[in-house]
Amino acid sequence: MKITAQTRIAGVVGNPVRHSLSPIIHNAWIEAAGLDAVYLAFEPPKDRFREFIDGLRGGVVRGLNVTIPFKEEALALADEADEAARTSGAANVLFFHEDGRALGWNTDGQGLHLSLQAAGAFFKNPEVSVFSGVERSPIDRAVIMGAGGAARGAAAALLKAGVRRIEIINRTIARAEAVAATMPGVIARHWGDAATSLAEAEVLINATSLGMIGQPPLELDLAPLPKSAIVMDMVYRPLLTPLLRQARDRGNRTADGLTMLIEQASLSYFGIFGRAPLHSVDVRTLCLEALGEES
Ligand code: ATR
Repeated sequence: MKITAQTRIAGVVGNPVRHSLSPIIHNAWIEAAGLDAVYLAFEPPKDRFREFIDGLRGGVVRGLNVTIPFKEEALALADEADEAARTSGAANVLFFHEDGRALGWNTDGQGLHLSLQAAGAFFKNPEVSVFSGVERSPIDRAVIMGAGGAARGAAAALLKAGVRRIEIINRTIARAEAVAATMPGVIARHWGDAATSLAEAEVLINATSLGMIGQPPLELDLAPLPKSAIVMDMVYRPLLTPLLRQARDRGNRTADGLTMLIEQASLSYFGIFGRAPLHSVDVRTLCLEALGEES
């Protein structure tokens, strides 16, 4: 890679950010397209995010992906935000105009739509649906485990897709109730009531950190879940979480967190560089290699 005086800079900002796969994904697309650009990882102190962002205004960098714990603050700092960012309460992309304004977008929701559809889901809202003219019954009921930023984003994305009833199950019920209070169609459920919720679910999403390397597994008996339901895990370290393994073993279709990560990255790249990434680049294999090296 040749760095010149015109090389455009983009990147990902988070804390911690050292395990982010975004530089691997975006730099592979940049290189394949022959763009004069570079994608870096930034880790400002958690209490200095505003100062970090203000220093980048005016076109210093073209755009940033934003990850934990800065997504909510990124939305607050954005001068304008798209509907997805506003409804999910978080921005995972900041795009910088040369006049100093920052735009906040959220591509996580579309990443979720695309990965669930790749696993066979059909959504009612034609704006979200990648299928047209297909006679299939749309997803009507979903269950989300967790009530943090990831769960809120997933709930907003499912509502946008036309899912009518979403049950949020969380260890701390007050957090689930707080999400439900701001989103019509979302209902809070106690952790112990999971079996009842699962019995009618068409989609089940794990948006907790359980199952991630270093965390306890998500101990959820899938027996009441219909075999036709799709099970998605937003955790991708490891790629095959205990939840996804259990789902596959009993015959449910599954969507893993790496698919969602790559789909949101693809949309972010489009927003930042103004062109779609080349499909010829096998970023999934690159990510799997990086994940394999870690473990
Ligand atoms: P994010 O913004 O990435 O979603 P978060 O706000 O820290 O992260 O949320 C983490 C989620 O994982 C929460 O739903 C949390 O449940 P609580 O609200 O009860 O804390 C859930 N979680 C984390 N560890 C858990 C555990 N050991 N058992 C059950 N839920 C857990």
